[in-house]
Amino acid sequence: MKVLVTGGAGYIGSVVSRALLEETTEVAIVDNLAGGHREAVPKGARFYRTDILEKKNLSRAMARERPDAVMHFAASMQVGESMREPLKYYRNNVLGTANVLEAMAENGCSAIVFSSTAAVYGTPKTMPITEDEVPKPVNPYGSSKLAAESMIREFAGTNGTKYAILRYFNAAGSAFGIMGESHKPETHIIPMCLNAALHGKKLEVFGTDYPTKDGTCIRDYVHVLDIAKAHMKALDYALKKPSDCFNIASGSGHSVMEVIGVAEKASGKKIKTENRPRRPGDPAELVASNNKALEKLGWKPGLNLEEMVSSALEWERHKKF
Ligand SMILES: NC(=O)c1ccc[n+]([C@@H]2O[C@H](COP(=O)([O-])OP(=O)(O)OC[C@H]3O[C@@H](n4cnc5c(N)ncnc54)[C@H](O)[C@@H]3O)[C@@H](O)[C@H]2O)c1
Repeated sequence: MKVLVTGGAGYIGSVVSRALLEETTEVAIVDNLAGGHREAVPKGARFYRTDILEKKNLSRAMARERPDAVMHFAASMQVGESMREPLKYYRNNVLGTANVLEAMAENGCSAIVFSSTAAVYGTPKTMPITEDEVPKPVNPYGSSKLAAESMIREFAGTNGTKYAILRYFNAAGSAFGIMGESHKPETHIIPMCLNAALHGKKLEVFGTDYPTKDGTCIRDYVHVLDIAKAHMKALDYALKKPSDCFNIASGSGHSVMEVIGVAEKASGKKIKTENRPRRPGDPAELVASNNKALEKLGWKPGLNLEEMVSSALEWERHKKF
């Protein structure tokens, strides 16, 4: 089995690539290093510094590798930036996905696992969110991912490409002792909390008057290693069963204040916070059901928030990029 991983020099893609290699799957990574790191590419993976927007180069890499399946992580993924630069998101996430699908078709590859996101749901009223919820994204990041999902489904309808769409909630934690989160800028709460704890920086808390137990937003967190396991199951599923879409979530939520508390306990440091107004488009609570993933993929997360935070802390202390 050979998998071509787009975005495999990024946070989740590099961990999934390493997990694939450990299962003796061959891995080829395509990444332009816009947000990823050459050092994150695991040993044993072949690496193409290639932009998925450069269709010819992408097809060339695909022709050389002739993968059995593609895992497509490469994307722009910052909500705030997407509000300022929507076209960047449509270009990279929609046109980029079109190029990936076309290059697959040209090279006889007919299975894809696609990284989608909780952001496709927007601000649903009913928690936990199920896959039956009608997606109504509230920012260009979510809209571009939803458009890419639709494109995959419609393209698959024309030529039988098999797919599994994974809508993951907040990825967190580090894996294999050496692989963790390093976004620039970092907008994710756990690394921001740990940075505040380790370097005495102030952590901004956006919204303290939400109708939640402590007034701060509640989100659903999943360990990156559990996300990697979901990909293994999804690949197997995509190759054998009818194509489908799954929430990759824990089924329960933690408030910002709870995350801060866990980070303080893990680091032994007090985190200084600054209360700020709510950000537009930030719902009070986003928690998803993982029943479908459990029933159909046989996947459920095994690691809890404390394990995510303590592994992320190890990474923050020792990270090299
Ligand atoms: N991190 C999360 O909590 C989270 C949650 C939901 C969904 N996702 C999705 O998971 C995927 C991976 O997220 P991540 O946190 O690992 O992000 P990341 O930024 O660490 O990784 C993305 C990788 O894609 C590469 N890339 C971007 N545009 C490219 C292009 N045009 N050509 C080639 N490579 C390109 C970047 O260089 C980077 O290495 C994304 O699709 C994201 O939307 C992430």
